[in-house]
Amino acid sequence: MFNKKTIRDIDFRGKRVLVRVDFNVPIKEGKVKDDTRIRAALPTLNYLLDRGASLILCSHLGRPKGGPSPEFSMKPVADYLAGLMGKPVAFVGNLVGPDVTAAAQALKPGEILVLENTRFHPGETKNDPELSEQLARLADVYVNDAFGSAHRAHASTEGVAHHLPAVAGFLMEREIQYLGQAIAEPKRPFVAILGGAKISDKIGVIRNLLKIADHVLIGGGMANTFFKAQGYPVGDSLVEDEALDTARELLAMGGTRLRLPIDVVIADRFENEAESRVMPMAPVPDGWRILDIGPETAAAFRKVIASAGTVVWNGPMGVFEMPNFAQGTYSIAQAVASSGATSIIGGGDSVAAVNQSGLANKITHISTGGGASLEMLEGLVLPGVAALLDRN
Ligand code: 3PG
Repeated sequence: MFNKKTIRDIDFRGKRVLVRVDFNVPIKEGKVKDDTRIRAALPTLNYLLDRGASLILCSHLGRPKGGPSPEFSMKPVADYLAGLMGKPVAFVGNLVGPDVTAAAQALKPGEILVLENTRFHPGETKNDPELSEQLARLADVYVNDAFGSAHRAHASTEGVAHHLPAVAGFLMEREIQYLGQAIAEPKRPFVAILGGAKISDKIGVIRNLLKIADHVLIGGGMANTFFKAQGYPVGDSLVEDEALDTARELLAMGGTRLRLPIDVVIADRFENEAESRVMPMAPVPDGWRILDIGPETAAAFRKVIASAGTVVWNGPMGVFEMPNFAQGTYSIAQAVASSGATSIIGGGDSVAAVNQSGLANKITHISTGGGASLEMLEGLVLPGVAALLDRN
């Protein structure tokens, strides 16, 4: 299924390896706040070190505008990694240049060097060939383990792969295997659960999943646009008027496979302490807004999920960050965790919901990718993967 070469296919003894990781992690006051993505890369890093490689790690962090800025520095990540690995991790405050070349050349087998944020360099997002070549000159082999960034055709994720033997790390391989399998050969019934605020972010995903899934369950803010497209006034709910035609097209395409909430929780303000009530789906009074799916919907969705062979879930069912409107999302998290299905979850809020409910260990695969996992579900080829060496 995964048709790219991986780190198993290369002899790393005495090699300098440039590893693109996705260490785009939340940082507050210079401290890493969630280390999931860092931990997810450790199997690859340890494998390479155990086989006698030295590692040059690079990643983007955030979306810095107009050059370097201290709040997006990779230094805190390098320090954090040193703690996790229990060994020194060197850091150099540039991506390329004489200081980086010198630090890379000084590396001995088993040593690790972290480079500064790839996006501090203007050539990164432009996929500048000169930057790609400069990066390639630092190492003998390129390993891409940055699944979360594989949908970006940038110098460190795509361009550099054309100048070195380029293979996938274990995280990349696992992500593509699970998401690829779900799309290509799902165990049926295949149930997709999609939520989140906007249809416009996920049109391609909904369209593709309507072609291959047996059920597409819709919740979250995006359901409001479908309701309005069906002719229901939705009060003061969030709606994308510009996506109404698309919503009508998807409704027509989906038929009975596309399931919308049958009841909702409405509130008189966008606040956790707002007055709220459950109503069957019907015109929403003015001054009220939909903030969660209702209990009947949760029960109906749970029933579909319980019989699934494969479940893919992306996006919360309601305003999950407000505890009073998180019930729908938690209920779905429980249903997914207790189903016997192969379960795959992506997207920050749905992942947070399973983590907070202590259910993460009951999920088959929790993706480290947001946009990248959505592009996989849309059936797109990720440029960071396409650029790696083919297995044959
Ligand atoms: C992510 O957080 O989804 C990835 O790290 C990609 O980040 P980006 O959307 O800024 O390219």
